[in-house]
Amino acid sequence: MAPAVAVIGAQWGDEAKGKIVHFLSRNADLCVRFNGGPNAGHTVVDQYGEARLHQVPAGALHPHCLGVLAHGMVLDPWALWEELESLRTQGRPKPQIFLSERIHLILPSHRIREEREGAAAKLGTTRKGIGPAYMDRVARRGLRFLDLFNLEYLQEKLRAEHEAFGGFDPEKVLSDLLRFRDEFEKCAGDAQALISEAISHGKTVVFEGAQGTLLDVDFGTYPYVTSSPTTVHGIPWGTGVWPEFSAVVGVAKAYTTRVGAGPFPTEDHTELGKRLREAGREYGATTGRPRRCGWLDLVALRYAQRINGFTHLALTKLDVLSGFPEIRVAVAYRLGRRRVEDFPSTWELARVVPIYEVLPGWREDISGLRDFEKLPKEAKAYVRFVEEALGVPVSLIGTGREAEALIVREEFWS
Ligand code: IMP
Repeated sequence: MAPAVAVIGAQWGDEAKGKIVHFLSRNADLCVRFNGGPNAGHTVVDQYGEARLHQVPAGALHPHCLGVLAHGMVLDPWALWEELESLRTQGRPKPQIFLSERIHLILPSHRIREEREGAAAKLGTTRKGIGPAYMDRVARRGLRFLDLFNLEYLQEKLRAEHEAFGGFDPEKVLSDLLRFRDEFEKCAGDAQALISEAISHGKTVVFEGAQGTLLDVDFGTYPYVTSSPTTVHGIPWGTGVWPEFSAVVGVAKAYTTRVGAGPFPTEDHTELGKRLREAGREYGATTGRPRRCGWLDLVALRYAQRINGFTHLALTKLDVLSGFPEIRVAVAYRLGRRRVEDFPSTWELARVVPIYEVLPGWREDISGLRDFEKLPKEAKAYVRFVEEALGVPVSLIGTGREAEALIVREEFWS
């Protein structure tokens, strides 16, 4: 059985999945995005500089790895052009990409609708038109890449959108979409067939999750979630293949962040939270918004572990915790007089108070370290505390922004 590796955010997104996917794709044939769209912001820092990826799979920065945009995504053609152009101006080799012909397209009217329907303000969305594009998909009035070949359907869709929402030039959008179709026709097709054949031919496939488990449309903190499945279940949903995974890697930051509205029990409103934000450069890769910052939450991570069945954990940004005299970790919550061990409903989550265990911090700068044994003993103890609490090995540890600032604990990668 070929190695199929899933990489899934274990928190509220922004866990530095881009870096982990990029590393795990170094020997991969395919890297597949299966959910979300340009709401994602996956950052990779390598010899060409910083790539901020929104729709191009992070593995596709390796010239040998084909980036597949599967049908579970919603694709903004204009944003894809822009992204490819920004990669080109960095002097990178042109990424190889393949589009599912069934992928739904985000139209200018989707962004307009998102503002009008109030979701942008109420939920603090990324304002990329994600929700309305997924709504059209299930309402059976969406526009897929395939539909660009049916001129009548395409024109009718644009006419209806323009009549209902205005705010864009239908002629210009039509000509852009036809240009997009002609440009990408050669690298679009049946992605389900491509992925399943790759797997049956023993190729290595990395599945790149976007957002995180707690933003999943069903398992997340609904309604403060995104509009797609962000968990491992999103892989069969968004690709049509259900491989035997050789690894399901949960990516968790060594602390927690969240952007947008919704409960976040371990959020730190004091100077410490601000310090995490500055040290971790916690500003949205897609929107530039400051992220809400707080401590690691083991209640949430145990839940993510139950949903996804992680076989490995990647604990990222451990270097950001250097210099904090103490490190807090929520091990349970208190709800009124009750101790809560399981992740509760959104409405209860908004009322819980975390019960913290306080671990000693370390002063040493660990940035760029690649050898686990060289970590200060307190940092090692922190990592071991997390792995014991979750029963999953922490097999990758991020120690800086650069791609190579990563501790790979080979003993867990048999
Ligand atoms: P939407 O996905 O733009 O509809 O936004 C819904 C919620 O998910 C908002 O709270 C966003 O901030 C959050 N969100 C969406 N994508 C990401 C991401 O890639 N990282 C972190 N949060 C995200």
